[in-house]
Amino acid sequence: MTRPLFLAFLLCVATLARADVVAPLLKSYEAAGASKFSAKDAEAAWVQPHLDAKTGESRKCSSCHTEDLRRVGKHASTGKAIDPLAPSANPKRLTDAEHVEKWFTRNCRWTYGRDCSAQEKGNFLLYIQSK
Ligand code: HEC
Repeated sequence: MTRPLFLAFLLCVATLARADVVAPLLKSYEAAGASKFSAKDAEAAWVQPHLDAKTGESRKCSSCHTEDLRRVGKHASTGKAIDPLAPSANPKRLTDAEHVEKWFTRNCRWTYGRDCSAQEKGNFLLYIQSK
């Protein structure tokens, strides 16, 4: 194989490996009963405010990640910068299933006071992936 061809091949493998974590996660959500994932539903949910019973704060995903996923976010309570969620702006996103699940759990509990359903998580994944 010529050198440029080999490099192109490596790039493809890297891209495939990167895309790989969304597909198995969606499969596991389907196994949990979800189907027909919708990035559009997630887009609406992203900015939908929820009243936190304890603090009276209005909370939504965009509270920390902003409405533009390509931008650097800011943690609503600590003020710390959060790297962009959009894979187009941050190639590390959606490459580590454990990291994704861990933060779905934390963020859904903080935002909604409950876990997200498999359907909601699948919708969010498609939405984030499209950015
Ligand atoms: C209180 C602030 C905050 C809110 C609100 C929030 N997040 Fe996050 N989110 C974080 C932090 C902090 C991380 C982990 C740090 C990092 O990965 O940069 C993170 C990481 C993530 C990740 C990991 C992505 C990856 O591949 O690295 C996903 C997915 C995510 N958030 C989705 C959501 C969704 C969906 C909502 C709304 C239900 C939400 N977040 C609301 C702070 C927040």
